[in-house]
Amino acid sequence: MIRKDIKALAAYHVPDSSGMMKLDAMENPFLLPDDLREAWAKELAQVEINRYPDADMQGLREMIAKQEGLQPEQVLLGNGSDEIIQMLLIASEPGVCVTPAPTFVMYELISRWLNRSVATVPLAKDFSLDANQFLQVCAREKAVMAFLACPNNPTGNLWDKDVVEKIAKGFRGLVVIDEAYAPFSERTHTDLIAPNVMVLRTFSKLGWAGLRLGYLLGDAKMIADLNKVRMPYNINSLTQASARFFLQNSDVFKKQARDICFERNRMMASLMALHGVEVFPSQANFILMRVQSADAVFESLKERGILIKNMHAHGGLLDQCLRITVGSKDENNAVLAALREIIS
Ligand SMILES: Cc1ncc(COP(=O)(O)O)c(C=O)c1O
Repeated sequence: MIRKDIKALAAYHVPDSSGMMKLDAMENPFLLPDDLREAWAKELAQVEINRYPDADMQGLREMIAKQEGLQPEQVLLGNGSDEIIQMLLIASEPGVCVTPAPTFVMYELISRWLNRSVATVPLAKDFSLDANQFLQVCAREKAVMAFLACPNNPTGNLWDKDVVEKIAKGFRGLVVIDEAYAPFSERTHTDLIAPNVMVLRTFSKLGWAGLRLGYLLGDAKMIADLNKVRMPYNINSLTQASARFFLQNSDVFKKQARDICFERNRMMASLMALHGVEVFPSQANFILMRVQSADAVFESLKERGILIKNMHAHGGLLDQCLRITVGSKDENNAVLAALREIIS
């Protein structure tokens, strides 16, 4: 009844974080200020919940387009950017998809669900990406699409602009530049948008992970075709109303993102001072570091009520690596104090 390969898969595992300091999923640590929370609740109370949501979300797409200096026809909305990755993989022509390795796991996972093959290009030891090697693999595999997470998850680094540009201009298939961490990064790539180059974003990391809203920016014709595989009403009315309200108050979230970047840089400097810890540069709201025993450090933090992400099981370049989401100042201080005790 169920495909054998699906039976063999493990469901996406979200660890139990009840009662823990949650620093494993790149969420924004800040709640909404009280006045904004009250005004938001009033907006939500107006929503006609008995009706299906606005199906083409013109108003919301206009707001996002304006923010990006694009046209509303160049914006596609998804229930999280995960759903857009799924739409891209459903709609693109059959053939191989190329990604760097390691990178965001959903590119490969969704490809598997859809019986699509993925070829990977290993990053160098310092997590840099060789554009020529990437293009060679694309040619060898006669690839039809590529995903480039900029900045990359789980490594946190942003590949050089000329690397991204060389791939975007040198590969004839569909290039998706995934900018999930754009709010924390020094550079974005909307200038590279072309008939075969699209930019993927999410509001999750900016502070709305619970809403599930992502968007794709690209050529209007491409967006119109992808829109044909979008589930009707994929963005619920409460998310639509919340997003419109939050976009009108975007300064609050921009300030939070600046605070997170400040904390990230402070954390990186303090982590570097720990004995035997290698800290990798980050342009995101998380930090990847290599320790002497990732399993032991992960478990010791967990015992102290701090949940981070242990990347060690992935092996290879992620050997002995841990990924820590940047939290609030107090949370980060607690992590540093715990690590100073554990790693001494
Ligand atoms: C690179 C990258 N893209 C996309 C996503 C998915 O984000 P969303 O919450 O919008 O589905 C993530 C989440 O961690 C990510 O790291």
